[in-house]
Amino acid sequence: MEKIMVEKSPPLRGNVRVSGAKNSALPILAASLLGTEDIILEDVPRLKDVEVICEVLTSLGAKVEFLDRETIKINSSNIKNYETPYELMSKMRASFLVMGPLLTRIGKTKTSLPGGCAIGTRPIDLHLKGFRALGAEIDVDHGNIGAYADKLVGDRIYLDFPSVGATENIMMAATMAEGETIIDNAAMEPEIVDLANFLNKLGADIKGAGTSSIRIKGVEKLGGTTHSIIPDRIEAGTFMVAAAITKGDVVVENTISSHIKPVIAKLREVGCEIYENGDKIRVIGPDNLKATDIKTLPYPGFPTDMQAQFMALMSVCNGTSVVIETVFENRFMHVDELKRMGADIKIDGKSAIIQGVDELAGAPVKATDLRAGAALVLAGLVANGVTEIENIYHIDRGYSNIEEKFRNLGAIIYRK
Ligand code: EPZ
Repeated sequence: MEKIMVEKSPPLRGNVRVSGAKNSALPILAASLLGTEDIILEDVPRLKDVEVICEVLTSLGAKVEFLDRETIKINSSNIKNYETPYELMSKMRASFLVMGPLLTRIGKTKTSLPGGCAIGTRPIDLHLKGFRALGAEIDVDHGNIGAYADKLVGDRIYLDFPSVGATENIMMAATMAEGETIIDNAAMEPEIVDLANFLNKLGADIKGAGTSSIRIKGVEKLGGTTHSIIPDRIEAGTFMVAAAITKGDVVVENTISSHIKPVIAKLREVGCEIYENGDKIRVIGPDNLKATDIKTLPYPGFPTDMQAQFMALMSVCNGTSVVIETVFENRFMHVDELKRMGADIKIDGKSAIIQGVDELAGAPVKATDLRAGAALVLAGLVANGVTEIENIYHIDRGYSNIEEKFRNLGAIIYRK
């Protein structure tokens, strides 16, 4: 099995351009099932997860064509199939996002229950609560789940937790439901706004995306459009932390700084100088990294997808840091791997207490999810010796050509 090898590297210097956001591209690709004319998506990150959802769209009867490395053309005018193959669903939970579009476009959808994953059980009760509220019949048997409705009718739906996926699935299902749907306690992530903007360009009528209350008025039909995916705020944050941990000087390009305010604030607390200039963010890491605390929250709070990367940084800050993970119930799988490298971390329920150490030591480690994999790369950049990272398919799911981007900044990183 291929590994990513990371050696102790000099302070990172230079410019790096962030790709389009994985967590915007995946729901927007799913939403392309709603279109009846050509859809062109630009700035789509070239990731394994994108390839999987394109296979799902093709299996449903959509025509999917890569016009170039980051541009995809989709035509869903003739989708006929409504069942998502198990082998594709089991590869990626986000395939579940095709249910809302299929339910409203053809009135039926069937797939296998999404697997859990390393970061938690990942239930779908809120997705189903929304589908039922819109009038769908749901049936679950032998690990498969089906939803059926001759016609969806708008309703008011309260999300017990501002779930990103549930907000997206219900919003997509409501685009062609009869009447008006309101989603209360909706997720407010930038990726929700990007999806709503895309759907409105197809002809949907959605207002309030980005707030906790989204109003969708059903329309008869959705057409086609050209849309560019927003930059990946988590990839941007990952490279910003790389500049901090290596005490480097890095300019991250193609960013929207208002999407990563908590990460900017926390990097300033550990002592970084940060300069925002248009779509560029320059991060200069300090000689003395100071401990700080983070608590992950739904947007606009500190993003859970940056928790592992920040924990790698805290492992070498001076002092004691505390991380509280409130979004997922089991997102500390990277702690054991960081401890193999000499980090001093104790877990207490939803909290992790990190005592900064002077040095980390390279070691063979395993990526347990895509952000944990990124955290191990960051730790490897400053650890003495070589860090060998296994299970790198996790990293490839969320970061396109990660080694090349890090090597261009001076990192010693390669695949073996
Ligand atoms: C999205 O996952 C992202 N994935 C995740 O990014 C991200 O961590 C997460 O949102 C939170 O921001 C994509 O967008 C493809 P949720 P999603 O539904 O939609 C509970 C990455 O690293 N919940 O907001 O699955 C759930 O158990 C990935 O790029 C229910 O209880 O996240 C979890 O504790 C990892 N019932 C919490 O909500 C439901 O029906 C957040 O889940 C749905 C969710």
